[in-house]
Amino acid sequence: MRKLITFLIASVAFLTYLEAFQCPSSKKYNVKGPLKGATFTEDDIATDKCNVSSQSSKIESFLYWEIVPSRMLPKLRPLTPKLRKSMENNIHPEETQNELGRGLSILSDWRENWHTYDSPLDYPDLIENETGYAKYECEVEGKIPDDLVGILYRNGPGKFGIDGERVQHVLDADALVYKIDFPQCKNHSKKRKITFLSRFVLTEHFQKERKANRFLYRGTFGTGPYAALFDSRRKTGLNSDPVEPSPLSKVIGGAFNTNIKNPANTQVISFGGKLLALFEAGLPHRLDPVTLETLGEENLGGLLKSSLPVKLGNNIPTELTPDFIGGNAHTAHPKKCPKGNLVGWHWSQLPLSGSLEVTFTEWSSKDFSPVASKTFEIPDCSLAPHDMALTENCIVLKINALKMDPLPFMINLKGPAASLSMNGRSPVKVWVFPRPTAKSQFEPFFVEAPACFSIHFSHGYQDEETGNIITFFSGWPPSDSTDFLGAWGGFAPDYKQIPPTFLWRLEIDTVKKRTVSLSIAPGSYNVCIEHVLVHPNFNTRKAQNVYGIASNLIGDSTPPNGYVRLKVETGSTKVLQEGEFNEEIDSYWFGTRYFVNEPIIVPKEGGNIENEEEAYLLGMVRDAVKKKNFLAIFDLEKELKEGPVAKVWLKSGVPHGLHGCFARGSKGESSVFC
Ligand SMILES: [Fe+2]
Repeated sequence: MRKLITFLIASVAFLTYLEAFQCPSSKKYNVKGPLKGATFTEDDIATDKCNVSSQSSKIESFLYWEIVPSRMLPKLRPLTPKLRKSMENNIHPEETQNELGRGLSILSDWRENWHTYDSPLDYPDLIENETGYAKYECEVEGKIPDDLVGILYRNGPGKFGIDGERVQHVLDADALVYKIDFPQCKNHSKKRKITFLSRFVLTEHFQKERKANRFLYRGTFGTGPYAALFDSRRKTGLNSDPVEPSPLSKVIGGAFNTNIKNPANTQVISFGGKLLALFEAGLPHRLDPVTLETLGEENLGGLLKSSLPVKLGNNIPTELTPDFIGGNAHTAHPKKCPKGNLVGWHWSQLPLSGSLEVTFTEWSSKDFSPVASKTFEIPDCSLAPHDMALTENCIVLKINALKMDPLPFMINLKGPAASLSMNGRSPVKVWVFPRPTAKSQFEPFFVEAPACFSIHFSHGYQDEETGNIITFFSGWPPSDSTDFLGAWGGFAPDYKQIPPTFLWRLEIDTVKKRTVSLSIAPGSYNVCIEHVLVHPNFNTRKAQNVYGIASNLIGDSTPPNGYVRLKVETGSTKVLQEGEFNEEIDSYWFGTRYFVNEPIIVPKEGGNIENEEEAYLLGMVRDAVKKKNFLAIFDLEKELKEGPVAKVWLKSGVPHGLHGCFARGSKGESSVFC
């Protein structure tokens, strides 16, 4: 104890010393747009307590008239004359499909994707500020196909702070969930009524922070409590660049506070009569599938316990385990098997052995009851993987090379994710587990794979001839990056720091228990792609087509503004040089002043689910000129480059989201995909 007190006193003294050299916050901004030459200070941009004001929004929009820096071109570049004219006149530049796909975006447009969900200036009462509630009929451009029936649900960060203070990292923001209803088509000659509904997920943490009017909980990515007495920053609004509290105020205000916030902001799934908002470091939250009201934490029939997902081990008696630990967290990426079950897992860290306890459970679509469950311990693993691959009999988890430094986390200098360091050059372990319902159970095993950081799996399958497991995932090539998701922090993801994200193909020999190959997937060289997926009936099979959001076809790392279809079994394996344009890709680019969200593939109602292309691709798109979003609907029996067959316009913008699903009905019917 004496050592601990001495350490704390020394820390406080050192941090006080550091703070003495910090300048007070009085940053000046040089304006790049039509008001060029003017200088604004934070006083000018300071906003009211909760929302960006029209004045600050207007000023901020002039500040970043630059090309978004990319991994290949990390320096800010002035706008081209054409783009400058488009900004001055608030219009889209004239562009052809042939000019696009090269990773060009405007920084002020990109930043607006990460503004708090709020009413547009010309419609101030559209969205209820406290709850995010909005409900209205959407305008439709084109004709909604009659065989597109069901409900699109989407989730993502939506409220970026509290009391005029922005979160330190976009992934710490509270969730906005919304849905768009496509009812049955009763009269083919009439336009269907397409409705939109949105709400923030009112978690207990959200409500307690609102009541206290300050951050109370530790965000996974660095937002957290601090001692206001030792903090000299000005609050500049939810839509201004966050400034970190001083180290001293963070240590005093939050050291040894291990209350991790669950913002419920990652995924929303409809399954077995339930609609759940998911966050991978906490429990699911149940929502009303019709009204989207938050119903509370969901423990899945008592399987999950709501406390820190850390266990001392099975040999430690329960009475010796403090109350605040011993809980679970549930993945944000359960997967629906084409045969109907939902396959999910929950996890707890076992710090005494440096391992991770994972329990895989398969759930029935009838009533969300467990069909089968199995628990395993993964040695030398401190963080649950973000996603998994599923085959008919196996679950594949790829363990990225991450190490946790607990001290900065414990004393509140960093969030848990920021306390992880990545080794982008280290080989990684790929674990193979039997699915709980697999007829033939086996001992889990791992293979070592070359360095590569994985994010999302599109699909996986076991090859009929060789028995090898083949999986496809989005991820980063070997790199010297050490900062885990740090580049996603600040105001908006920073593409000059994020490695380009490619689609990878990994093949594992399950008999010799070794990696056969890891390479860029065929047909995808230099395609910067994320949120990869296949037709839902093929996610455990040999799919021909992988879809995703695309940023460019030249191998750079830039914001996404197109959708692509990749021919992963038959595509070219010709290696392209960095910067070389991939001419063979079926893609559609909305334009420089648009941004796209995760696509969802919805089989046509009553269609042939054995045909991968008898489906629609639904993608939420932001139009930076109109400052509104629309849902683009592509018919996959046509080429993507022909463009969407219809657009469903929202009355406002919505922040850049993460994940979602599509359900056939509003009573928690099983998603066609998740
Ligand atoms: Fe994800």
